[in-house]
Amino acid sequence: MMRQVVLKARPQGNPRIGDFAVEEVPIPEPKPGEILLRGLWLSLDPYMRLGLDEKPMGGSNGVPLGAPLIGGVVSEIIASKADGFSPGEIVEGRTGWREYAAVSATLPGLRKIKRGKFSLTTALGSLGMPGQTAHAGMITVGRVKAGETVIMSGASGAVGSLAGQIGKILGARVVGIAGGPEKCAAVEALGFDACIDYKAPDFAKALAAAVPESAEIYFENVGGAVTRAALPLLKYGARVPVCGFMSLYALGDVGPGPDHLPGLMRMIMLKGLEIRGFSGAFVAAPNALAELESWLGEGRIKLLETVIEDIANAPAAFVGMFAGSADTGKRLVRLAADV
Ligand SMILES: NC(=O)c1ccc[n+]([C@@H]2O[C@H](COP(=O)([O-])OP(=O)(O)OC[C@H]3O[C@@H](n4cnc5c(N)ncnc54)[C@H](OP(=O)(O)O)[C@@H]3O)[C@@H](O)[C@H]2O)c1
Repeated sequence: MMRQVVLKARPQGNPRIGDFAVEEVPIPEPKPGEILLRGLWLSLDPYMRLGLDEKPMGGSNGVPLGAPLIGGVVSEIIASKADGFSPGEIVEGRTGWREYAAVSATLPGLRKIKRGKFSLTTALGSLGMPGQTAHAGMITVGRVKAGETVIMSGASGAVGSLAGQIGKILGARVVGIAGGPEKCAAVEALGFDACIDYKAPDFAKALAAAVPESAEIYFENVGGAVTRAALPLLKYGARVPVCGFMSLYALGDVGPGPDHLPGLMRMIMLKGLEIRGFSGAFVAAPNALAELESWLGEGRIKLLETVIEDIANAPAAFVGMFAGSADTGKRLVRLAADV
């Protein structure tokens, strides 16, 4: 038998623990063309919230009620009925919140991972989708240049912590935004020039003081009050890579605010802003992962990871992502005791 986490109820607003159930089911048998995977590491990502509504937001894959949640997993192949895949090999793909999975070897996005000098967890963080996203947002979309100033929202998270470090590598001044003094200290320890606490009462004033000469880039991860404080601090023609807006995900596809869209559109017009949404894994430069790997190897990128023990704790950790948990960086669930 194995455990898996299924969607019990569709979240009303931010996800709550009662929206999920951990159930025991038989370990599946692989069919011809399939591989049987033993999960090692499960990635927790804000995008997973987008698939939990009746009408999945933004074209993300929906999760039917009673079905296992979607999520990226690093797994070991323990049986194979597919050519080119052997037991003992490691793969990464969206195989779901479960301890074992039998999946087609042609599952879109499934890739082999070589054991090497970096932990397997990096396949879900710096050397995976969040890494590609940070690289794409800072370089492909943000076009950061030495000497520019970047305001980085979500700076204590998986994407923001990396994107800010990439900005520093490329010679920018990077001002992070994070929730609370401890998270700001963690962000500054990564090499950011400053970090402003968005939960402090004087947040907007403190952010303005940290960006005295306006900024060329606002990296959008969160939306809401953080965005409203950052946009007035941008230069004419500043770039705004819109990576995500997770404070608004619970509002559904339309939502009344709190971004006050007419005001936002006015700001876009008045300041001539170029705001370009993107999907990091699709538009990252072909050398993104190789470049990240070399920066990681040289110690120029530091890993920020929180490991959650046991799949049964995954729902609480996921709920915490939307409720100000103390976790930082890439959140990972250890699925097997021996990794
Ligand atoms: N476009 C793409 O291809 C792509 C790919 C991956 C992720 N994303 C998006 O990028 C964003 C960051 O993802 P991630 O993987 O880095 O997530 P993460 O590790 O959970 O980090 C999220 C960050 O957002 C901050 N945050 C959460 N709720 C907030 C709120 N209400 N107000 C202000 N800040 C808030 C958190 O700040 P504190 O913890 O400091 O409070 C945290 O630093 C998300 O919007 C995600 O959907 C987009």
